[in-house]
Formats: sequence, structure tokens, C-alpha cells
Amino acid sequence: MKPKIVRTVESLRREVARWKADNLSHAIVPTMGALHDGHIQLVREGFQQADRVVVSIFVNPTQFGLKEDLSRYPRDEEGDVEKLAAEGVPLIFAPTVEEMYNLNAATSIHMEGPAKAGLEDKFRPHFFDGVATVVAKLFIQSQATAAMFGDKDYQQLMVVKRMAKDLSIPITVFGVPTHREDDGMAMSSRNRYLTKSERSQATAIYKSLTQAADKIRNGKNPQSATRAASRSLTTLGFKVDYVAARNAETLAVPTNTTEPLRLLAAAWLGKTRLIDNISV
Ligand code: PAJ
Repeated sequence: MKPKIVRTVESLRREVARWKADNLSHAIVPTMGALHDGHIQLVREGFQQADRVVVSIFVNPTQFGLKEDLSRYPRDEEGDVEKLAAEGVPLIFAPTVEEMYNLNAATSIHMEGPAKAGLEDKFRPHFFDGVATVVAKLFIQSQATAAMFGDKDYQQLMVVKRMAKDLSIPITVFGVPTHREDDGMAMSSRNRYLTKSERSQATAIYKSLTQAADKIRNGKNPQSATRAASRSLTTLGFKVDYVAARNAETLAVPTNTTEPLRLLAAAWLGKTRLIDNISV
């Protein structure tokens, strides 16, 4: 069956009120559309955690910087609806910018902590306040009790978990493992920007992270392992924003050898910025 598409908060609330009246729980999967198999994994996990799943599709202008790719961000609502229909998603929330951000809005969320770890935030200073604000609104608008986010955007996942906790929003945020192509490349809406030769090169990000993780497991110092990974990516023609080993929960720079670690990387290949991360 085709999912129902609602475009206003009022109609979203009306739909979820019906589920609540029937004692059915629901999960939300926030997306910016142009859905790929990575997003679909979140939907499937949503159905593991709740009776119903609502997917939001909203290209959120407040998380894009002035020089970023808002206008050329891929959009394909028809294709998205088809993919979600195949998964049995009953409801899509696809608001307009005007519906989401009323002109008189005087409130937004500013975050510190994981949002100021010196990773994505260093290169995209407005990004996490924009994400935290829109995701808080989606949580409140949808009244979902579970939310699915990808490990792929690991700092985002930590930011959203913290925001929900700090604001006492009654929702459980689940992290879903990164869905990868056969060569290890993390699926992303931005992969379609890559030329054919860039695409075959791009897997080097995952490979260099995997090698660094192996070295750390074998006793190498995390800083020198990530520095070597960064150097090898630069040699291959990437412009590296960062390759870093961080505490997997706080994203702080590790201070001892027993902390759980996450390796995170961001690098440009031609005109496309790619990010990835793995656990150690
Ligand atoms: P978007 O890039 O569309 O991603 C939506 C969700 O899909 C995010 O939680 C992201 O981590 C997850 N995702 C993307 N690629 C994935 C992959 N290969 N495997 C598993 N999960 C993957 O992230 C955003 O949108 C926005 O910032 C949003 C949270 C919707 C706020 O506007």
C-alpha cells in the first residue's frame, strides 16, 4: 500500500493520534530524502522497535552553510515514496520550509558538548545547531517514542542523543550500523556526485580507517595511527579535513588506553565531501 503523505504538523498529529488511540507505538526516521539502502536499514530497524514507522523527508536549510550544497541537494520524492511503500511504511511527513520554520520563530537550539568536539563542527559551524533544532521539532511534532539514526553520521548521532536527554524528550534514540557497498564504501546521498574514477578511489577512506583500527588493536598509539591514515589519504589525492581517534561516547580526545574508541574521518575527493567512521 502507498504511504500517506502529510505536509503539516496538524495532519501529522492527527495520524499519530489514531495510532495512539489503538495503543500502537511508532518510531520516527528523520531523513532529507534521496533515499538509499542505508536509510532503508533505519526503516527496518524502526519496525523492530515500534508497531508503526513515520519517515520524515525534509531538506533542512538551517543545517547548510552558505557555501554548501543546499540548492543542489538531490531530491526525488516520487522515488522515495516508492521505496518506502515497498517497506510497508504507512506515513511520510514531508513539510515545506514555511511549515517547519514559521517566519516568527524566535527559538532555536544551541549545543555544546559533542556538538563542539572539533570534528564536523570545525568545518561546518552552523551544522549541529541546525540539526538539533530540526530534530527536536520532529521529535515533538511526531510524538514518537523511538527514533532511528545512522552510525554513519556518528557525531550527529551523539548530538541527537544528548539533545533528547538534555531536553527530557521522551524518546529513545537508536544508532543503526552503517550500511556499506560491497567494497566497504559507506552509502550516502552524496556518493552520486562522484565520477566513476572518484567512486572507485573513495573506498580508500574506509580502508584507511580499518587499517588504523587494526594497528591500534595491535598496540599502536591512536594518534600516530590516525596521522598515518591521513597521510595515506592525502597521498591518494584526498583533501583531508580530519582523521581522528576519539572517545566513542563523549567524542573527547582520548586520555588513556582503556577508553572505547571511534575513528572518524572527513575528506574531499574532487568537489565531494565524504565522511565515515568505525569503532576500534
Ligand atoms: P540524511 O543524510 O538523509 O540521513 C538520514 C539518516 O540516515 C541519518 O540518521 C543518517 O545517519 C542515516 N544514514 C545515511 N547513510 C547511512 C548509511 N550508509 N547507513 C546507515 N545509516 C545511514 O542526516 C540527515 O539526513 C539530517 O541531518 C537529519 C538527521 C534528517 C536532520 O535534518
